[in-house]
Amino acid sequence: MTAKTVVAFDLYGTLLSTESIAKQLEKRCDNAKAQSISALWRRYQLEYTWRLNSMGKPHFQSSRRYEDFSKVTRNSLLHALADNNEQLSDDHIEHLMQAYNDLSTFSDVNPALAQIAADPSIQAVIFSNGTKTMLSNSVLRSKDLSPHASVFQDIVTVDEVQQYKPSKASYEHLAKQTGQDPLQMSKLWLISGNPFDIVGARATGMQAIWVDRVGAGWKDAVAPDLQPTAIVHDLKHIVKEINRHQI
Ligand code: LAC
Repeated sequence: MTAKTVVAFDLYGTLLSTESIAKQLEKRCDNAKAQSISALWRRYQLEYTWRLNSMGKPHFQSSRRYEDFSKVTRNSLLHALADNNEQLSDDHIEHLMQAYNDLSTFSDVNPALAQIAADPSIQAVIFSNGTKTMLSNSVLRSKDLSPHASVFQDIVTVDEVQQYKPSKASYEHLAKQTGQDPLQMSKLWLISGNPFDIVGARATGMQAIWVDRVGAGWKDAVAPDLQPTAIVHDLKHIVKEINRHQI
């Protein structure tokens, strides 16, 4: 029997639309402001993860500086609201945080996951910055994604190594959790809509497919030699691309 190909799916911005939270914000403020807060929220959320990664471990502390993704998500929301001169009650903040566990899937996700479920050559896992609780809520209980929860054989969170993507440690943790030989990272696949995640995975030698739903084209130039293994506009093409590049 040939070994299954491990395919790790990023969650936020790949399977779940972080922009869909704007619907919840529209209940509290006008549409333009809701869009602005939701975009800024996501930007600060990622920026905070990178800043925490960079701060590392001060010599007077025994551990790295780290806040889990739930705290990062809440703190970045407060920052985005403050930038927009918007004040929400603690109850409304709590409601938004709950809604973050029930984000909508992109329209191509559900048919593509049904296709992957039927493909015995693929071992699909979730690989995300989210805490175990956030990921369990999103994958096992959310309205859109939970019908496909059984596609995923594991949920891997970087919380276990307290280092966010795109740290090398986060991708090596994925390899370890999926039983992959760390010297054979090129056999491991990441599917992500986030360019920084694609570049991080490629830097460790992994294969990575960028999901470019809007047809923006690859523009990330942080390390110009690190390009996606393949680019798809619809998640349904990933199996074809994996087979095409299989070594
Ligand atoms: C995640 C981030 C990249 O799900 O959104 O890991």
